[in-house]
Amino acid sequence: MSVQIRPQRLSATAIRNRKGGDKIVCLTAYTAPVARLLDEEVDLLLVGDSLAMVIYGFDSTLPVTLDMMVAHGAAVVRATQHAAIVVDLPFGAYQESPEQAFRAAARVMADTGCMSVKLEGGEEMAETVAFLTRRGIPVMGHIGLTPQAVNQLGGYRSRGHEGAERRKILADGAAIADAGAYSLVIEGVNEGVARDMTAAVAIPTIGIGGSPACDGQILVTDDMLGLFAFTPKFVKRYARLADDIREAARAYAAEVRDGRFPAPEHTYQAPAKRAKTTAGALTVQSNLPLSGNSGEP
Ligand code: KIV
Repeated sequence: MSVQIRPQRLSATAIRNRKGGDKIVCLTAYTAPVARLLDEEVDLLLVGDSLAMVIYGFDSTLPVTLDMMVAHGAAVVRATQHAAIVVDLPFGAYQESPEQAFRAAARVMADTGCMSVKLEGGEEMAETVAFLTRRGIPVMGHIGLTPQAVNQLGGYRSRGHEGAERRKILADGAAIADAGAYSLVIEGVNEGVARDMTAAVAIPTIGIGGSPACDGQILVTDDMLGLFAFTPKFVKRYARLADDIREAARAYAAEVRDGRFPAPEHTYQAPAKRAKTTAGALTVQSNLPLSGNSGEP
């Protein structure tokens, strides 16, 4: 067997072994340039099916296809070297049977080079998680507020505040952990549930609207960068990029309209000319202003 030397990425086992240790830092990424910027700062990047809303402007995650996940997953893997890359299995690509889930997960892993898939669901998905993990596919679970089940759950409200719902979420988490998942996203649940879950399971919990007690945290990157007007309670904005983008677009529009852009330094002059010196040697006369960071062209 020949071994290719590849950059050291965090593996599912490395993430699994962080249970109770250093907090696991996760964000979403959907495109190469953003993934490249985030790669060194985080432990794990999730190519989430939230790209339906964030990138494509749908109002739920349901319309995402396997082809979309593969295209974005491959872009994120190509752009990164350090973070563990996890790709979501989209709605309809895995719920029917463990075999259907295996085909979808195998395609995602083979065509993107990611190290794991994530799927939503609790007790009802435990058999599928066991089927995948026994066949070499590391699985990250996702319970609590599961966006693919928004129509069943009756909206995006937080969950697990009272008896039966609380017990159900705890049972879901235990079932997914027992089935062999290496980590578990807990979304939009009562703080106590996330804390009890983290204490109960042997795998790391990754909170999003969970609790600081979780072993790690994840946010949708575009939310924490302040690209959307509406953000859920659990989002903290670390930047206000929407304001910066609007301001940049306004400045650009004003300069185009009043003729200040493009300026001479953004404009190509006559190409370099070859001329003979008096001594007969050839020199290059250039009046090409090479632009700031890109040079010619
Ligand atoms: O799709 C996604 O971005 C997610 C995170 C919110 C955990 O599943």
